[in-house]
Amino acid sequence: MATARTTTLAIANQKGGVAKTTSVASIGAALAELGHTVLIVDLDPQACLTFSLGIDPEDVETSIHHVLTRGLPPAEVLTETDDGVTLLPATIELARAEADLLTRTGREQVLRGVLDDLADAGRHFDWVLLDCPPSLGVLTVSALTAADAVLIPLQCETLSHRGVGQLLDTVHDVRRFTNRGLEVWGVLPTLYDGRTTHARTVLETISATYDLDVVEPPIPKTIKFAEAPAAGRSILATSRSSKGAKAYREVAQWLVARAGRRAAAAGTTS
Ligand SMILES: Nc1ncnc2c1ncn2[C@@H]1O[C@H](COP(=O)(O)OP(=O)(O)OP(=O)(O)O)[C@@H](O)[C@H]1O
Ligand SMILES: [Mg+2]
Repeated sequence: MATARTTTLAIANQKGGVAKTTSVASIGAALAELGHTVLIVDLDPQACLTFSLGIDPEDVETSIHHVLTRGLPPAEVLTETDDGVTLLPATIELARAEADLLTRTGREQVLRGVLDDLADAGRHFDWVLLDCPPSLGVLTVSALTAADAVLIPLQCETLSHRGVGQLLDTVHDVRRFTNRGLEVWGVLPTLYDGRTTHARTVLETISATYDLDVVEPPIPKTIKFAEAPAAGRSILATSRSSKGAKAYREVAQWLVARAGRRAAAAGTTS
């Protein structure tokens, strides 16, 4: 019998406020709705993902920080959320982990090791989604090193693409030094205002300039997203039939199909 595969996806863009965290929470909930088991990992010391899923980081005693720097078994830190996904939570202490890790040998591999430990402890997930902080520091590089693929949320506005080249340079370095198999699955347009031709032009420019796939459909800009984190649930629960929730469900289906193509390609080459 074939063993079930895990697909580990980093959601990364060093630009702040492009909906990385919103995408991780919403895609995670959408994949759970489809019957997949999902682990989401908060790799941002701001702990917005943890907070947005109804967990107050101030009440969290052990977190990803203890796992990354003190060797705490990750299975002891896993938290179940009301959205049906499992969370590896963060707290502000993670800011210190970044500094602690800087002097550690093999620091890029630290997250991959944590995910391997979870698998060894019998915790299997169909999907692991990594919510990266808005920087290209140790935590983002460790996420790219642990990932099978990266998805780049991008707000379609002028100059939004300026950081993309730098992110792709980092991906290139990661492929060269720590994770040869890392795939770039593409750009996810977020906070998209389809009424403006400008947003469409930006998207076309980015996909042509960097030769990147653009995930369909774009995630529309809607106020519903601002309301969800305060409720401690993703938009899929707080606004089930909104355009935003529907778009993230379609993106989740796109990801499942994409993972299927990847698995099929691996099957034919092995
Ligand atoms: N489609 C959307 N429509 C309207 N608002 C949105 C949408 N997606 C996200 N937002 C809002 O935009 C803000 C930034 O989103 P989010 O925190 O997910 O971005 P981020 O990339 O994770 O930010 P950071 O870089 O700080 O980690 C939040 O207030 C969020 O509620
Ligand atoms: Mg974030």
